[in-house]
Amino acid sequence: MKQVTVSAPGKLMIMGEHGVVFGYPSLVTAVDTRMFVRAEFIDSGKDVIVAPQVKESRFVETVVDLFKEKFKIEQVVKIETRSDFLQTVGLGSSSAVTVATFRALADLVYRRLTLREIFDLSYQVTLKIQGVGSGFDIAAATFGGVIYYLYGGKKIEKLLTKRLPLVIGYSGVKADTPALICKVKRKYERKKEEIGKIFEEIGYLVDKAKRAILNADYPLLGRLMNQNHGLLCRLGVSTKKLDKMVEVAIENGAWGAKLSGAGGGDCMIALVDKNKRSLVETAIERVGGVIIKVDSGADGVRREN
Ligand code: MEV
Repeated sequence: MKQVTVSAPGKLMIMGEHGVVFGYPSLVTAVDTRMFVRAEFIDSGKDVIVAPQVKESRFVETVVDLFKEKFKIEQVVKIETRSDFLQTVGLGSSSAVTVATFRALADLVYRRLTLREIFDLSYQVTLKIQGVGSGFDIAAATFGGVIYYLYGGKKIEKLLTKRLPLVIGYSGVKADTPALICKVKRKYERKKEEIGKIFEEIGYLVDKAKRAILNADYPLLGRLMNQNHGLLCRLGVSTKKLDKMVEVAIENGAWGAKLSGAGGGDCMIALVDKNKRSLVETAIERVGGVIIKVDSGADGVRREN
């Protein structure tokens, strides 16, 4: 019996979180923790989904239903997932499984979907389940690499760059991304001018950072990351723990550091020269962070068999 295995990568926000939800640009990267999805037809009454490592099998179920309805597929399928994600860390296991499941089903039924089509369908699923989100995680899982990204995929520009020398520290606290997005939205509605100005400044930093990445100017990129972290603190989404991890990373020689993602927990990232790496990692661990070993710029969704 034909079976198809596909994988898709996780993601990290490099710069521009929250602003991106309101139309400002962001910079994101795919990371090399991957979600593997195996799809096959089975003789059974109903679809079978085996996804023990997936936070919410709702994502897989929704993809299967949407795909079968859209492409009028009547056969019964079995979907199995396997991953090297630590789910709690916030590296985008839901977006990766969504993207990988679409591609696996498409290959199973010999239906060619472009990357843009996979992105659009997957973003539809995210919005259906979470209600909010810019879709940057879906873009990373689909296209891979380092991406300059605008809300809803209005722009998805892959940047020609080497992998970025990042250290990633997990704060030990799981963030509730949709709740944080709503918190910032309410703040924006109350203080349009003040918060709008912060988003504008974040967007300005992102545009400068894009050029810094293209020029591999890491000292500049680091300074821009530090400024971005300051603006996220003003938005009220950082935590004492994240601030501490960022502070010690910079004290120990990182070019720059900031929280990555919605805030409230999850991860911070530091941009670090290779000869300072172990110093920065140890400093982050000493204040209670957990170092996550992943590389940036990973491949997007791909067939594995
Ligand atoms: C969360 O990782 C990043 C946010 O900008 C939300 C999003 O872009 O979907 C806060």
